[in-house]
Amino acid sequence: MLTVYNLKMPHAVYGGENAMDNITAILKNHQAKRVALFTDGGILASGLFTLPEAAVKAAEAEYYVLSDIPPEPSYTAVQQIVDQFKENGADMIIAVGGGSVLDAAKLASVLVTDEYGVKELLDTPGRAKKCVPTILIPTTAGTGAEVTPNAIVAVPEKELKIGIVNENMIADYVILDARMVKNLPRPIAAATGVDALAHAIECYTSKKANPFSDTFALEALDLILNHILPACDDPEAMEAKNRMQIAAFYAGIAITASGTTAVHALSYPLGGKYHIAHGVSNAILLAPVMRFNAPVCEDRLAKAYDRCCHEAENRCQSDSEKAEWVIGKIEEIVRHLNIPTSLKEFGVPKEDLDGLVEAGMLVQRLLVNNMREVTPEDARNLYLEIL
Ligand SMILES: NC(=O)c1ccc[n+]([C@@H]2O[C@H](COP(=O)([O-])OP(=O)(O)OC[C@H]3O[C@@H](n4cnc5c(N)ncnc54)[C@H](O)[C@@H]3O)[C@@H](O)[C@H]2O)c1
Ligand SMILES: [Zn+2]
Repeated sequence: MLTVYNLKMPHAVYGGENAMDNITAILKNHQAKRVALFTDGGILASGLFTLPEAAVKAAEAEYYVLSDIPPEPSYTAVQQIVDQFKENGADMIIAVGGGSVLDAAKLASVLVTDEYGVKELLDTPGRAKKCVPTILIPTTAGTGAEVTPNAIVAVPEKELKIGIVNENMIADYVILDARMVKNLPRPIAAATGVDALAHAIECYTSKKANPFSDTFALEALDLILNHILPACDDPEAMEAKNRMQIAAFYAGIAITASGTTAVHALSYPLGGKYHIAHGVSNAILLAPVMRFNAPVCEDRLAKAYDRCCHEAENRCQSDSEKAEWVIGKIEEIVRHLNIPTSLKEFGVPKEDLDGLVEAGMLVQRLLVNNMREVTPEDARNLYLEIL
């Protein structure tokens, strides 16, 4: 547990019915004249974009759309969008999408300068300063990118994904409008929901855990463990979808106050080298890493059980039983949601093991948060377990 901690948050967060309507007032308060709307092809095709677009039109601001953002973009793909943004200029950024779009917009908001670009921030993230205010509207539930100071990009030459962290990238405004996640396709809802689950449980069992992060991590965990299945399975389960959206946001706050651990660290090479979606690679690693960690955080997992298990019958008694229930529940969720539980279907050959271990061990930013030390031998065993 940290003994000194802080929490940096967006200026304002709007949730509940028709939260999107607040955009008009925000733009008017800022006297925004020209707005850059960041999104991607999937969101445009889904028809979701019309809601924020209508709110911008109502503010009578001029706007243009940047939508050439691939899922899980490389730093060069993000730089291309940033360059388009710099050419066109804007006094407000609105981003509508999953983590890929939100992260690209967050980077653009600190890169209206010719002194450095995304590549330079990979080495010296502290240089970035906020240039343009942001309104972030997540459409997955989700990465929590709407509230974190992080932006994750793929770095093909290192076969890794790398997180750029700078508090200047924290959103100015966040809009959690349930309509944006209502029709989330099941595989995306499943993978991004388990990503949020990973954020919550990793932050709760992180060396950087503290009273601020615990509050949000535990609430997120309770909401996710008990609502993720109906939210993904039942198109009409609006209450469950709402709760997942709020839980993903809370789990993002937990990341901001604490930090993820070995699940995310070992997952980055899987995204970087094999382009496995972020939520899927985390889902594959989540139960094996938690089982590896359990001996040193059984008490925390037991507290998570006490908070999240609402089954009246067959109560677990000991800490180890409770910890096993939590890990078993995660396995059950991943299986039920038809997310792969190993790397088999991604064609990862055993010969790649050394490279994976080497790349995973580079992610010390997150590995240092893991309560149980992860040696290269441990990383090898964990990768072997999921091959
Ligand atoms: N900044 C952070 O704190 C943070 C945290 C975790 C992950 N990430 C990063 O976020 C990225 C992943 O984001 P993601 O998992 O949200 O997915 P994504 O943004 O990559 O989107 C995946 C696909 O889903 C589509 N989509 C999104 N919302 C939709 C909706 N409501 N309806 C229909 N289609 C929709 C998109 O168009 C896209 O094709 C990765 O790069 C990951 O590393 C960032
Ligand atoms: Zn994540």
